Amino acid sequence: MKIDLRSDTVTKPTKEMLEFMMQAKVGDDVFGEDETVKKLEERLANMFGKEKALFFPSGTMANQTAIKLHTNPGEQVICDKYGHIYNYESGGVAFNSGVSCKLLDGQRGMFTLNQVKEAINPLDYWYAQTSLVAVENTTNKGGGACWDFNELIKIKKVCLENKLGYHLDGARLWNALVAKKENPKQYGEIFDTISVCFSKGLGAPIGSVLVGDADIMKNAIRIRKVFGGNLRQAGYLAAAALYALDNHVDRLVGDHKKAREIGEVLTQKPQIKSVEPIETNIIIFELNDDVSEQVFFQRLVDRGIHIISMGSNKLRMVTHLNYTNDMHTAVLKALKGL
Ligand SMILES: Cc1ncc(COP(=O)(O)O)c(C=O)c1O
Repeated sequence: MKIDLRSDTVTKPTKEMLEFMMQAKVGDDVFGEDETVKKLEERLANMFGKEKALFFPSGTMANQTAIKLHTNPGEQVICDKYGHIYNYESGGVAFNSGVSCKLLDGQRGMFTLNQVKEAINPLDYWYAQTSLVAVENTTNKGGGACWDFNELIKIKKVCLENKLGYHLDGARLWNALVAKKENPKQYGEIFDTISVCFSKGLGAPIGSVLVGDADIMKNAIRIRKVFGGNLRQAGYLAAAALYALDNHVDRLVGDHKKAREIGEVLTQKPQIKSVEPIETNIIIFELNDDVSEQVFFQRLVDRGIHIISMGSNKLRMVTHLNYTNDMHTAVLKALKGL
């Protein structure tokens, strides 16, 4: 049995999801004729209490579009040093928007109001103009950590005072909503733009949506086109997202429970220095200095378990839709016996 815990993006659509996709009513979305894409966009806009929503092929394209909407070349984005937009979007902030990142030294991908205040550049012309604060929830490199919503509200106030845009990379916001019993409207109220993904914990094969009010979203479709993201009969894909929203959100609780149970076993292992707190479906742990990452990795592979390295002797496991109860039992047993 191959057990793939590298990421929650490795899932394959379920039979029911595929059947639902096949029945989608589609049309040419460039002509605004894809009913299912429209349905998904309207649903997301309503869900977050925003005026507009736009479907994207990927979370990266949705984030990059948001950054482009909020900034002009030469300006600066404030984000965490662990931020996906900085680390894992191929330098897109510079390539697509011509902006730099002011990196904050946060905790597990999350920062504080005071750090934001200190990072805003003075208005003197020789500084890059700060124009956007970008937050990630849950944090990927931070081990699926969830923000304290009150801190997000405080940061919003500073954004308003300094006329800064406020973007949320919510690729795994669904996990945070379930873990913290929050709702999308709360987030819609404070963020100017929010990207969410259906291809992570929700198990769709592809798809993200960017939501925002009409004013900021005015040019989103043009930028998506510039980035090569025009869609035609994308309703088949939007249907996967609709199916996931109806059927795969509540079940995230189970992914989180499994992640915690893995964490409990890892904490007991002499080879492991530390396990980061587990709030959602991501487990990040650090090996002891005298334990070779390669050897540890290979021991797991020999038992059919595949995980991923995050660098600096840190490893990551992610629970997901295709990680069954049987697999979980096998993983716990294998880890105990390592
Ligand atoms: C936090 C976060 N944001 C954005 C993305 C980008 O999503 P995509 O792979 O769909 O471009 C990812 C991907 O894993 C992610 O973890």
